[in-house]
Amino acid sequence: MSENSSKIKFYSGEDIPLELHKVRVVQKLHLVPIERRLEALYEAGFNTFRLDTKDVFLDMLTDSGTNALSDRQMGAMMIADDAYAGSQSFVRYQKAVEEVLGKKYLLPVHQGRAAENIISNAYIRKGSIVPMNYHFTTAMAHITQYGGKIEELLYDEAYVINSKHPFKGNMNLEKLEKCINKHGAANIPYIRMEASTNLIGGQPFSIENFRGVRAIADKYKIRLVLDASLLGENAWLVKQREEEFKDSSMAEIILTMTGLADLVYFSARKLSSSRGGGICTNDYAIMKELEPLVPLFEGFLTYGGMSVREIEAIAVGLYETLDEGMICQSPQFIEYLVNSLDKKGVPMVTPAGVLGAHVNAMEVCAHIPQSEYPAGALAAAFFLISGIRGMERGSVSNQRDEYGNETYADMELLRLAVPRRVFTLSQIKYVEDRMTWLYDNRNLIGGLKFVYEPPVLRFFMGGLEPINDWPQQLMAKFREDFGDSL
Ligand SMILES: Cc1ncc(COP(=O)(O)O)c(C=O)c1O
Repeated sequence: MSENSSKIKFYSGEDIPLELHKVRVVQKLHLVPIERRLEALYEAGFNTFRLDTKDVFLDMLTDSGTNALSDRQMGAMMIADDAYAGSQSFVRYQKAVEEVLGKKYLLPVHQGRAAENIISNAYIRKGSIVPMNYHFTTAMAHITQYGGKIEELLYDEAYVINSKHPFKGNMNLEKLEKCINKHGAANIPYIRMEASTNLIGGQPFSIENFRGVRAIADKYKIRLVLDASLLGENAWLVKQREEEFKDSSMAEIILTMTGLADLVYFSARKLSSSRGGGICTNDYAIMKELEPLVPLFEGFLTYGGMSVREIEAIAVGLYETLDEGMICQSPQFIEYLVNSLDKKGVPMVTPAGVLGAHVNAMEVCAHIPQSEYPAGALAAAFFLISGIRGMERGSVSNQRDEYGNETYADMELLRLAVPRRVFTLSQIKYVEDRMTWLYDNRNLIGGLKFVYEPPVLRFFMGGLEPINDWPQQLMAKFREDFGDSL
């Protein structure tokens, strides 16, 4: 039994996650009154991306670049080697990628979507099809920008919100083969597997399934690309949920997973609790195809648009991904939050995944049609009554089709991200409390409509407004129930 491998049991029998770290640097938070939060919502176009942090109490927008840095990462940032070319910080980054991810060629990029841009630029042509377990917003935007299309090939179970299936992110192998036969292998530049499928509730895939995808990729000679942005948590869930790997170390599981892919890319904002990103491979030909694009879009090959401090933090963060005591913290907090809300009857995506707790807005706001964005409305309402900023992961996050028609999302989710080692248990209990209240008052939440819609990735900067005065009514009920509480 290793120091970090198991959940600590309480004498009381309570099932609560225990933090295996202590807090040494703190940041003061502000919980502004609900009246100010309402003003802030109007200023932000009812889009939580556009809120200012001065108005936000718990920032659960994302885990991207918001995971807590460790003392070792901060220490490493102080010894960074500042050089345009040949920096020793990059050498340390390369070594970490080789040891942790098992890939000897590394191309640095400034974040995950930059990797997606480079891979799409190199391989996507008009008519290309990219099969994937599920899309991520930026991955899809880059593929479609270069004239390609995506096909999402999950099993039906993945769309069952309340489920016990341990691997809802698995690729449907039968559908994958059918897709290849339909479009022809020549039109499929790569198959993309996303570890811990972000948009369907941070759901992992199993190694057994990944091996199946590999076998099909081999049969049709198609490259297999792994989006490893959330690989650490996917690997941790493999250890918890896949019998074959219950006694394996994180290092073994991660190497097994990356070893199945020809090309691995990641957002270091997630994977290594830092900033930046990378593309890595053991295939010299692939590396040479992508390499010229790095200086073009990112920067020289030893910094790729990142500062050397960020590069040092990635190197240390990659090794820390192997530490179960670190990597289990966010999924255990998420599991605690999901299970507590589930018990109170709030419709949640289950089983608990990674990156955040996901509330099923389609059910909470069953009275709001998808054309009025139930998940966006729930995100706005939750911020209003709690000061907690979550993220809409539903139809607002979807892009219109090539003819400009709205495409409704398979799921309307409010994601409450739980970045690693950032929140305390009492804060998580506050989330639970306010969400339960909102659920009990859900009939007061109303729909939204776009008043400003950017053509690409509209969810980032889009502006919406409520269809009537429901926010004022919700605020009045809050005051009635909570008196002068913040
Ligand atoms: C699975 C996945 N892939 C890619 C990205 C894009 O990474 P970045 O935000 O660093 O551009 C993200 C970001 O959230 C992600 O979750």
